[in-house]
Parts: sequence; structure tokens; C-alpha cells
Amino acid sequence: MSRIEKGSRPLLGVLISGRGSNLQSIIDAVAARRLEATIAIVVSNRAGALGLQRAREAGIDTTYLNPRDFAGRDDYDRALARLLVERGVTLVCLAGFMRLVGRPMLDAFPNRILNVHPSLLPSFPGLDAQRQALEYGVRVTGATVHLVTEELDGGPIVLQASVPVLDDDTVDSLAARVLVEEHRLYPEAIRLVLEGGWSIVGRRLVRAATI
Ligand code: GRF
Repeated sequence: MSRIEKGSRPLLGVLISGRGSNLQSIIDAVAARRLEATIAIVVSNRAGALGLQRAREAGIDTTYLNPRDFAGRDDYDRALARLLVERGVTLVCLAGFMRLVGRPMLDAFPNRILNVHPSLLPSFPGLDAQRQALEYGVRVTGATVHLVTEELDGGPIVLQASVPVLDDDTVDSLAARVLVEEHRLYPEAIRLVLEGGWSIVGRRLVRAATI
């Protein structure tokens, strides 16, 4: 894919459902100019999401899109896609967005939706990834940023970071250390994707210099 929005600052749409600490890491990276982009809008499917407050504090427009106002998942996704396109968004970042993203969104933003997941995919997709890792007994887990496809947590991987699992870890202590890596990785992955010069080869995201 060529560089998104060549010559102008790319606009991000960030989708959240809760705490919004990954959103905060993107806000901070933009503020520190480690990420040359603008967050055009933050959308939540939950009214009380703490992330909405973080966005408002940073002066970013927010929208609460209530799933109950729509007949089904596709209707919701169509409205979401319309809203993001209207705002000029070119890259969508899922940051703890607890909904599956369906066809209308994938069609509107092909290879332009990112997600952060708290495991080394393809291990432990879905909910409670840190608990899954702990219960399985792996010695190393981590964080993954990947492109979103129809397959849950299954799209091409942009960046990963590993985190050791310690003998005395609880789900909370492990999740906290994984989160540190998520916060480091996500803005960096967004920067790489916005930079362009990459393509998808099979399942792999390959950068031009390495082709
Ligand atoms: C993160 O662990 C993320 O990987 C997962 O949901 C959590 C969201 O946390 N998809 P936050 O809302 O960004 O603080």
C-alpha cells in the first residue's frame, strides 16, 4: 500500500469500549510527535467508557454509538463506517473495542484497520488472553498489533513484543506487564502502517526494503 494521505497529516479513528489506556498511548505519541497523525474521532460502543473521558480531556471529538439503536451487526458497522469516512479517517485503530468488526467496515477500510491483542498471536486469540497464557503454562507471552480481517485476531501481524511469564505471576500482574508492551508497540505499529511501503504477501506484512 502506498503512503496513506501523502503530504497531509493522516486522520485516525480510534474505537474503544472501556478503559482506553491504549488510546492514551496513541494520544501521548501524537502529542510527543512520535506519531505524525491526528486522531479525528474516538468512537465507543459503551456510554460509560473511561476512554471517552480521556479523549475529551485531550480535546478529541467523541461519539457513543449504541448497538441497541441498530437492527443488527451489519447495520451498526455500516453506520460506523459512514461516520469514520465522513470524518476523513484513513486508518482505524481498535483499542479494546469489544465487538467483532464485520464486512461493511472491512470493505470501507481494506487493510486499514489495526488491532492490539495481549498475546503472541496466533496463540491465545479471543477473550482473556493473559489468563489463557497463564493457564496453559507458557513461559513467554506478549503483545501483537495486527491488521484486522474477518478472522478473529487472525490478520497479518505488524509488530509483536514478548513478555516473560514469571512463576509468581497472577493474571493481573501478567496483564500489567503485557500492557506496557502494548502501549509501546501500538503507536509504533501505526507509524509503520502509515509510512507505507509494505505489502501483504500470503499472510505476511512485508516491508519494501525486505522484498
Ligand atoms: C488491551 O489489553 C487490548 O490488548 C485488548 O483490550 C485491552 C484494552 O485495554 N484488546 P485499554 O482499554 O486500551 O486500556
